[in-house]
Amino acid sequence: MRRRFEPVGPLRGRVTPPADKSISHRAALFGAMSDEPVTIRNYLYAEDTLSTLGALRVLGAAADMREDELVLRGVGLRGALEATGGTLNVGNSGTLLRLLPGWLAGQAGGVWTLDGDESIRRRPVDRIVEPLALMGAAIEAREGRLAPLRVGASRLKGIEYELPVASAQVKSCVLIAGLLAEGETVIREPHQSRDHTERMLDGSHAQFTRRDDGSLSVSQLDELELGDVTVPGDPSSAAFWIAAATLVPDSRIVVDGITLNWTRTGFMRIVERMGAVVVGDLEAPGTFAPDEPIGDLDVASAPLEATAVEAAEIPLAIDEIPLVALMAAFAEGETVVRGAGELRVKESDRIMGVVEGLGGLGADIEATDDGFAVRGTGGLLGGVIDSRGDHRLAMLGAVAGLASDEGVEVDGFEAVSISYPTFERDLERLLAG
Ligand code: S3P
Repeated sequence: MRRRFEPVGPLRGRVTPPADKSISHRAALFGAMSDEPVTIRNYLYAEDTLSTLGALRVLGAAADMREDELVLRGVGLRGALEATGGTLNVGNSGTLLRLLPGWLAGQAGGVWTLDGDESIRRRPVDRIVEPLALMGAAIEAREGRLAPLRVGASRLKGIEYELPVASAQVKSCVLIAGLLAEGETVIREPHQSRDHTERMLDGSHAQFTRRDDGSLSVSQLDELELGDVTVPGDPSSAAFWIAAATLVPDSRIVVDGITLNWTRTGFMRIVERMGAVVVGDLEAPGTFAPDEPIGDLDVASAPLEATAVEAAEIPLAIDEIPLVALMAAFAEGETVVRGAGELRVKESDRIMGVVEGLGGLGADIEATDDGFAVRGTGGLLGGVIDSRGDHRLAMLGAVAGLASDEGVEVDGFEAVSISYPTFERDLERLLAG
């Protein structure tokens, strides 16, 4: 599906972005691992998080989808015994592919195969195979590193593990397996990544601690007790409106009800440094709390300056880095992003997608091994961009069109349904506001 986005004027008014994808996946999974039913308000009904409900149902959980809440009746921490021998379809969801094996590996019997779409089959899983195998899991990936992934139920033991890359997905997988493993599991990551799993463990009466040296420890648990959850709005979806309102002259918008968890607001800090006006109650970096802080952001258009983004900032803005490239094309000076090699193994190779995509629209951008450099030219001509089946590149193209001189056609725009099915409706309202 091809869609055209024109520079048709300012964005105004309020927008409520869809529910957070990461928190929705975790709430559903934790709900399925609980003994008592859990009510999840504002669950994200989009393709990725529907894949999670599909897989959990196959494993024996019941998910009652009502308009404003989702009621999950779980099977308990050790109860995922159905569908043994079968295939679980994770669709396009890397989070499901990486988190679910942590639970399955610790069951008392059974074997499952996880598989998904073309994109999922290109995404590395050796990063979870290694720690789970060290814990004693029977786990096998195609060519040792790709889906389909076969996970056999095993007796797990706790490990001490240092993650080679900062990845919330890998961290979460090992923490979940740690709930089922004998003894204590201790992990450390090279840089802080999103901490939703840690907050949810805190809220589920798990034996979980953050140590002073930054490592995380979790111990075997009998029963998970997740209380009811309200999922806040997704800051990664909000980021498209923050970028659009900053770049399109005379815009002024309020983004309602998103999580302002500091491990998700790296993008806001980067663009503020570039000169963007984003006013809101961002959680202070370094805060560790069981709750997700929720708030609004007030954004107005502003001129931008170049910046440098280094490795420690990347995991805190990982899904928004393509938008940094777009904003850099409008900024004065040269913006350099380093330490972002992980972008090559997302839903698509996002370094290539952004460099070829924005380059084709007139940006002066070049790729490096682990990032890119953009020389700002104050604007963007327009043209055609390919989403490569990647929801975030599709929305990047839409924002580029709004801010361009001549408009942008986005090929493969239907990919937005992975995380933001109502994107076009929200855009229409902001343009009418
Ligand atoms: C996610 C973590 C990130 C992010 C992905 C969702 C999560 O991946 O890119 O979209 O929900 O844990 P990594 O932390 O593995 O880089």
